Amino acid sequence: MREKASTFAGEPEPSGPNRRTVLVGAVGAGVAGTALAGVGVGLAAPTTAPPAPQETLPVTLTVNGVRRSAPVDPRASLLDTLRDQWGLTGPKKGCDQGACGACTMLLDGTRVLSCISLAVLHDGQEITTVEGLVAKGEMHPVQRAFAERDGFQCGFCTSGQVTSAVGLLKENPRPSRAEISELMSGNLCRCAAYSNIVDAVADAARGER
Ligand code: FES
Ligand code: FES
Repeated sequence: MREKASTFAGEPEPSGPNRRTVLVGAVGAGVAGTALAGVGVGLAAPTTAPPAPQETLPVTLTVNGVRRSAPVDPRASLLDTLRDQWGLTGPKKGCDQGACGACTMLLDGTRVLSCISLAVLHDGQEITTVEGLVAKGEMHPVQRAFAERDGFQCGFCTSGQVTSAVGLLKENPRPSRAEISELMSGNLCRCAAYSNIVDAVADAARGER
């Protein structure tokens, strides 16, 4: 007589459902097949190709009085475009998220944080960086005031501070000290040269430098 199938030598196969029969039954009933089919749907290749990315767009800016045109990555900030593509390293990259003011430039005379401004959105506009404040070899009065009042220590924030102060004096030519502090509050200085910076801007406002 034929012996009963066993899991281990000498052990009789238990009667009723066991692990093997449950799994076989589930696959046979399509349960596992349905789950696998779901995974397959998630990984299916797209039927249409995504649109090709636009790699560059033509941008023309007048930077410090010089008109420049170049193809620019539509995702590039003004700061990266001027520093990396056009070699103007006066504006600094501090936080790269609009929090420190080191990247301040003047856009049509108004202060902007260039790290959070897309270059392609400013096609045709005029930019002034700290490099453009010097005229005929002479420092701008605000630059002179910063130098004479020691409005800096390490200097990392200084180009943004000076450019911001030039913009501020256009907005408000006769600011009080409190107004200078308030209107320059977007320009941080890790060396904490704040009182000298306010002195410098106040001197420049009075035309004393
Ligand atoms: S680098 Fe632009 S605000 Fe800090
Ligand atoms: S002078 Fe050093 S961060 Fe301002």
